[in-house]
Amino acid sequence: MTQQDKGAFIEPQSSGEGVDFKIWRKLWRFAMVYRWSVSLIVLFALTTAFFDAALPWVTRDVVNILIDDQQTLDLRHYGLLYAALSAGLATSVFGFIRAGGKLRTSVGHDIRSAGFRNLQRLSFSYFDRRPVGWLMARMTSDCERLTNILAWGLLDIVWGVATMTGVTVAMMIVDWRLGLTLLIVVPLLAWISKSFQKRILNSSRAVRKTNSRITAAYNEGIMGVRTSKVFVREQANLEEFSQLTGTMNSVSMRNALQSAVYLPLVLVFSSLALALIMGVGGGRVVQLAIPLGTLVLFISYSRLFFDPIQELARLFAEMQMAQASAERVISLIEATPEIKDSDEVLRRIETYKKQALAPEGLAEDGGPDKIGTIAFASVDFGYKEGEQILRGFDLEVRAGETVALVGQTGGGKSTILGLLCRFYEPTCGEILIDGVDYRERSLHWLQSNLGIVLQEPQLFSGSITENIRYGDLSASDQAVRDAAELVGAHEFIDKMEEGYDSQVGEGGGRLSTGQKQLISFARAILKSPQLLVMDEATSSIDTETERRIQTALARVLKGRTSFVIAHRLSTIRNADRILVIEGGQIVECGSHSELIANRGRYNTLYTQQSLRSSVPEDEGGAWGTAPSCPAS
Ligand SMILES: Nc1ncnc2c1ncn2[C@@H]1O[C@H](COP(=O)(O)OP(=O)(O)OP(=O)(O)O)[C@@H](O)[C@H]1O
Ligand SMILES: [Mg+2]
Repeated sequence: MTQQDKGAFIEPQSSGEGVDFKIWRKLWRFAMVYRWSVSLIVLFALTTAFFDAALPWVTRDVVNILIDDQQTLDLRHYGLLYAALSAGLATSVFGFIRAGGKLRTSVGHDIRSAGFRNLQRLSFSYFDRRPVGWLMARMTSDCERLTNILAWGLLDIVWGVATMTGVTVAMMIVDWRLGLTLLIVVPLLAWISKSFQKRILNSSRAVRKTNSRITAAYNEGIMGVRTSKVFVREQANLEEFSQLTGTMNSVSMRNALQSAVYLPLVLVFSSLALALIMGVGGGRVVQLAIPLGTLVLFISYSRLFFDPIQELARLFAEMQMAQASAERVISLIEATPEIKDSDEVLRRIETYKKQALAPEGLAEDGGPDKIGTIAFASVDFGYKEGEQILRGFDLEVRAGETVALVGQTGGGKSTILGLLCRFYEPTCGEILIDGVDYRERSLHWLQSNLGIVLQEPQLFSGSITENIRYGDLSASDQAVRDAAELVGAHEFIDKMEEGYDSQVGEGGGRLSTGQKQLISFARAILKSPQLLVMDEATSSIDTETERRIQTALARVLKGRTSFVIAHRLSTIRNADRILVIEGGQIVECGSHSELIANRGRYNTLYTQQSLRSSVPEDEGGAWGTAPSCPAS
């Protein structure tokens, strides 16, 4: 999939014109948590508007008195008043900047946390459809933009409305004819603003969309830098990328041009209003219909009146531009996991939670805690609609049995385990745990009884101990060490400078793949799970370590239901049952010796692997005898 495809695929549809207040109300809830900051912003916005409007009154009085009676003029009195009002204005500005900054930071933190929390709940399928870069852009630049609008937008609205109302009332009281002259320009300006905002909105949507694609491209470029170098793809990547930046350039220019034209237009209108005031007002001063001070007041007010219009127009434009950001962030926060407990299961969990003493041997949902037989019954599954990876898949696994899955790459082995772990659910058919469809059981119960080693071992920044302890925070240091010893990881950990306290780096980047596999293996068995699921857990491990793991595995897997996928067939020779999976079907099934004797697919695969003689044949047996194969 090229970057273009991805960008187009994931972008939500642009909503209609104008500001969609429903979306903003949802975001506003995040701000309302901080009532105190919100109240302070409102208060300081009002006092700022008051001081803004009051200062020209002082000027008006001074001018009038200057003309009427220069003898009695006491400038000290006005000077003090002016200073006091200015101090009030300065304090208000300081107050709203502080309160606004605080609100912005807190709301930003909360929105990000809500997004992150939800990301953790979402099912795997959500991530299959969205590139990491897209998700990161939501939580960083989109979030930043929205919190700015929420905090400063509130200020602009309160201050703007208060200033305009205050100024209008004051003008009407002082001289309604001059006041109306100023207001004539407003409808014209409103009309111009609306039509410009529509254009700006469209071009800015194009900018955001391209920006998303660029972030995704950056992300893949960084993650895949080694592969690109090996395949000498740098030039091609660069060309793809420069196409994207070319698009970005042209849409940004259009957007910048539209914004560049709009603001001067507003300025022209406010100058026009000023000219009208000076023309009409100047005439009335000459006719001695109004004192000069009133004209001075109106000149100040004409500026004061258009400032908020400009700010509010900018705010609404910004809100429209950020509409898409808001939609995306809300969609992320509100996205519901496709896989979750049904209402019936949730109700049962609630009922059992209320009972002070939970019945022994029962899980949180009231079902049996022990996992016995697991069965796939006519399971169909595909990642995308219309695609079928598994069709009518049947498999029955007894408690304590070790089942190995082998076979061609892309055959569906990881998919089968993904379904078993309920990362995905069957599109048709069912997966039964002791005869009960697992969708009728608690998701949390199932997954907390799973020990998983995934195909791509995932570690998190932190120490080795922290990574092993990940699945069971209550485990002691000794338990962590024992687990590491059991899987044969202790030796390499011990050799590291800081031993178990060594940092693994972001994503475990400071360790080799084999080391990461061993650590995720230790992590999986630490909590002694009822079900152990291992996808290629030992593929990157040297034969010496593998030998040790073999012995360890025999101990770990004994009496535990386990599913093991391996390409290196020597690892799974001792499994109770080996399934050869091809095209989503079980094409062969049996114990190692049975399959070898069959001289079928498994035998061919096994013969091809030179490792055949590297592990002695006699380490098996411990895992029990081979049961019969499923009817598949
Ligand atoms: N997340 C996904 N989204 C869409 N298709 C997928 C996804 N994961 C796997 N597939 C497809 O499903 C099929 C089976 O893949 P699966 O990963 O189960 O194979 P596998 O047997 O585990 O292969 P390997 O041995 O290479 O790990 C493949 O055709 C693959 O393209
Ligand atoms: Mg796989």
